[in-house]
Amino acid sequence: MIYGERIRLRGVEKEDLPHFVEWMNDPEVIEGLLAFWPISSADEQRWFEHLPDREPVERPLSIDVRAGEAWQHIGSCGYQHIEWKAREGEIGISIGVKALWNQGYGTEAVKLLLKQGFETLNLNRIYLRVNATNLRAIRSYEKCGFVLEGRLRQALYQYGSFQDLLIMSVLRSEWESSNREVL
Ligand SMILES: CC(C)(COP(=O)(O)OP(=O)(O)OC[C@H]1O[C@@H](n2cnc3c(N)ncnc32)[C@H](O)[C@@H]1OP(=O)(O)O)[C@@H](O)C(=O)NCCC(=O)NCCS
Repeated sequence: MIYGERIRLRGVEKEDLPHFVEWMNDPEVIEGLLAFWPISSADEQRWFEHLPDREPVERPLSIDVRAGEAWQHIGSCGYQHIEWKAREGEIGISIGVKALWNQGYGTEAVKLLLKQGFETLNLNRIYLRVNATNLRAIRSYEKCGFVLEGRLRQALYQYGSFQDLLIMSVLRSEWESSNREVL
């Protein structure tokens, strides 16, 4: 497991699936994600069964927050689209427990992913895509050192209108000059 100050990242377990079904059917949670259609427990079970088909480093990680002696599952994050030749990869994150938004857990999880990406996977560029209207996410990514790299104009259609999709990234050189900041 990957431990931070207040959270840990671990492999997804079967027991997590009811949480994902709840969160991925919550309009407020999926507003910032690319998901847009209700999912069932059976959909989620099938998704879980196919996880071993992915490269281990491209399997999602569950985010747990310390709750006294125990841990509470609050969301997920991880890498996808890793290109080993260009040494780049894309990250994604979702915290499903809305009561815990704005408490720094998302920022801590992304910083842990950056540390893993640069120091374990030896990546050179770590990027993400974010809806231009997702101001909380953008602020959190900026706190982690992500800079705006590009704007895909009207690349998303959501709630009856086209919206821009932002590409943000951190380069290894930037990570190193920021003293490999981790929580
Ligand atoms: C986006 C997400 C991962 C951020 O995690 P989090 O733990 O809520 O965020 P953090 O507390 O680490 O940081 C949020 C920052 O945004 C700020 N913020 C919140 N709402 C804001 C708004 N409307 N405008 C600008 N800044 C805002 C917070 O004040 C905080 O900044 P600060 O520490 O300088 O005060 C989480 O909210 C989430 O999973 N949301 C639902 C799914 C989602 O949108 N995923 C991202 C897809 S790209």
